[in-house]
Amino acid sequence: MDHGTVNVMFVVVARGDGATAHAVLKGQGWLDKRVEPIEVSEETIGFPVVFSVPPEALASAMKVPFEVVERAAVIRSPVDPHERLNAVVADWVSGVAPEHQAVLHHLPVKWEKLGGLVLFPNEAMSHASWDGVRQHEHAPSLWKRMAHALQADALGVQHPIASDTLRSSQVEMLLGSSNVRFLDHGVTFAFDAAKVMFSSGNNTERRRIGGIDMTGETVVDAYAGVGYYTLPMLVRSRADRVHACELNPDSVNGLLQGAELNGVADRLTVHEGDNAETLVKLRGVADRCHLGLLPSSEAVWEACLLALKPSGGTLHVHMNVEEERLDSWCSATLQRFRNLVEHHAMAFEVTVSHLEKVKWFAPRVRHVVLDLRFRPEAPLTGERPPPPAPSPLP
Ligand SMILES: C[S@@+](CC[C@H](N)C(=O)[O-])C[C@H]1O[C@@H](n2cnc3c(N)ncnc32)[C@H](O)[C@@H]1O
Repeated sequence: MDHGTVNVMFVVVARGDGATAHAVLKGQGWLDKRVEPIEVSEETIGFPVVFSVPPEALASAMKVPFEVVERAAVIRSPVDPHERLNAVVADWVSGVAPEHQAVLHHLPVKWEKLGGLVLFPNEAMSHASWDGVRQHEHAPSLWKRMAHALQADALGVQHPIASDTLRSSQVEMLLGSSNVRFLDHGVTFAFDAAKVMFSSGNNTERRRIGGIDMTGETVVDAYAGVGYYTLPMLVRSRADRVHACELNPDSVNGLLQGAELNGVADRLTVHEGDNAETLVKLRGVADRCHLGLLPSSEAVWEACLLALKPSGGTLHVHMNVEEERLDSWCSATLQRFRNLVEHHAMAFEVTVSHLEKVKWFAPRVRHVVLDLRFRPEAPLTGERPPPPAPSPLP
């Protein structure tokens, strides 16, 4: 992708002096990285330099004979997407809307890419200078150029996720469609990003869960969403069946689309509705339950424990916990589950098998996943393993 032709200043030296000249110009930070060096003649080469180089400083720094020429040159596309984004916005402002210079000081520095859709965080375009740009009659051409610079075909701004139970996404679309489809660790996801959220930040956890061998297992996902964990568990972990509980019909749509696209729909059972009701019907069926809701999944701790088969299994318990409370939270949670086991006379031995620190949710607050293992206690009579054979006498 090129950004057109501009006049550029070149420092021209003999080819034999090229390496020395390049080292000086680079060392001083004077090279214009947007432009390739040029061959001025068979014997000489020209290095592009920024216009702000003071001639006296250039003369005293150069260790070899040189001359300065000005030539039209093609600006090459920067490798860094931030630079590409900055370049297209600067170009649009200078060509179409010089009155909106101020946005150049408030350019987005981060974004999330979901397939062909780039989602800017709310704060990225919340400065007042963007209001005028949004209303500009040529704004659509800017959105197109920004999308092109980021190798996308749709652009949106993510307003805060609704704090309702559905965790609904609120996206202002600037360009293109909010229907996305993309591959993440070998799993295809497809959903309407304007209606549901996708926690890209949990990718390490998706990889970890998708890396566990679940062959032969029946799994319950209490908060399935569009299949963040359900799909990796079906596709990569090879779970026999996942029972996916989900309240939001838009998420259920995405989940079903994803299941079709990954060819795992026949091993997925969706339980649409409030898991307070749907989990009741899943008593005693699971080898594993996934409890993925933040800030806390406590609402389903008991129901997920009851969903385990008498042969036991694993619970993956998500929670936001203050860093300094991690140890005490783990012990308290373990004890809570031991109490629940006792209360329901389930005869399980409960142990912590792993604590995964997924990401920082806020300063000093971590999103963690506690893996708890439930094993049937050894039977008290009858089936005890035989005592070891006595060792032979010397
Ligand atoms: C945070 S999202 C899913 C997140 C996903 N597990 C992750 O970590 O990326 C939580 C999902 O749970 C669903 N949900 C919330 N409360 C629910 C409930 N009581 N019953 C069923 N689904 C629920 C929401 O609709 C949403 O899709």
